[in-house]
Amino acid sequence: MNDNETKNEESLGTDRRTFIAGAVASAVGAGLAVNHFSEAHAQTNQESQSLKEFAGRCAFVTGGARGIGYKTAEVLAQAGANIVLYDVAQQIKNVKYPLATAEDLAKAKKQIESQGVQCLAIQGDVRDSKRLKEATQQAVSEFGSLDMMIANAGITQIGFLHTFTDEEIDVVLDINLAGAIKSVQAAIPIMQKQNSGRIVLVSSITGRAGSQYFPIYSASKWGMIGLAKSTALSVASNNVTCNVVCPSLVNTKLLDNDYVLGTIFPKNPTMAAFNEVAKQRHVLPVGFYEPIHVANTIRFLCSDAAAYISGDVFDIQAGINAQSPA
Ligand SMILES: NC(=O)c1ccc[n+]([C@@H]2O[C@H](COP(=O)([O-])OP(=O)(O)OC[C@H]3O[C@@H](n4cnc5c(N)ncnc54)[C@H](O)[C@@H]3O)[C@@H](O)[C@H]2O)c1
Repeated sequence: MNDNETKNEESLGTDRRTFIAGAVASAVGAGLAVNHFSEAHAQTNQESQSLKEFAGRCAFVTGGARGIGYKTAEVLAQAGANIVLYDVAQQIKNVKYPLATAEDLAKAKKQIESQGVQCLAIQGDVRDSKRLKEATQQAVSEFGSLDMMIANAGITQIGFLHTFTDEEIDVVLDINLAGAIKSVQAAIPIMQKQNSGRIVLVSSITGRAGSQYFPIYSASKWGMIGLAKSTALSVASNNVTCNVVCPSLVNTKLLDNDYVLGTIFPKNPTMAAFNEVAKQRHVLPVGFYEPIHVANTIRFLCSDAAAYISGDVFDIQAGINAQSPA
């Protein structure tokens, strides 16, 4: 910025301040108290919120402190939903890379609230069915209903099948598969009583094909598809849908960590190297997905437009399926 531009910017700033001061003065002069102004503003805000598709609805997102879960919560909040973020937000034994922290969860809550909706942040583990049931009940007490359950919490693990200990096998199956089962169990009685609801599970591309490098993870993600279809059958008569999304590689901390990158690319442990692999695998000319791409698909499955879609599997795989037999 040169001197003239700086001066112009400064005088523009002064002009703006003068204008705002004048506007406030004339509003006060016209007998408008400032708090009336804020009340009117809040009402307008409320009215604009009520025009949104998910206004007055409540979405419960497991693993919502960061990554795909957080972005999904944000997209649903932008559409007017009140949000429950349920995340372990601390380290778990036998998980070899950092999970979200309590600070991540608190930050996520603030960001969701900045969308003009309400947000509950609950620190809890999807392996804990009692805590999940309490949390879903708390959602109903706070927000009046439980309209969307996004069973997204998950961990990854990499290595050849024969190398895993019992504890390492258990932690993946307990979180990814049993955790999703428990999340669905916590939502179902509430949704059945309401006679409405949407459940979306987050599986993976490794839930659609085997994986030599992610064998236990893959088994857990295949299991989630069986869970989605069985849930869809169990709750169809209650007007509740259940679907599952299977994303390819997504740019999150599940992959962007020393454990995963160091195992796959020991000589060049970078997301840039991984992105090249994603580009080679994808048919469309793209590398990593961003969380927003998955969030948008989940949002669609929760929308009124998807009311008659249930028991279906949605691959988000940049054209890879085009190479498979029909
Ligand atoms: N990133 C990818 O490439 C990719 C691809 C396909 C599917 N997925 C799936 O998407 C989901 C979200 O993953 P992400 O990529 O956003 O990863 P992420 O690690 O950024 O987020 C996962 C979140 O789940 C939380 N979490 C982990 N264990 C938990 C537990 N026991 N209870 C409650 N919360 C727990 C973590 O703290 C974290 O906030 C996972 O199920 C993952 O398997 C990811």
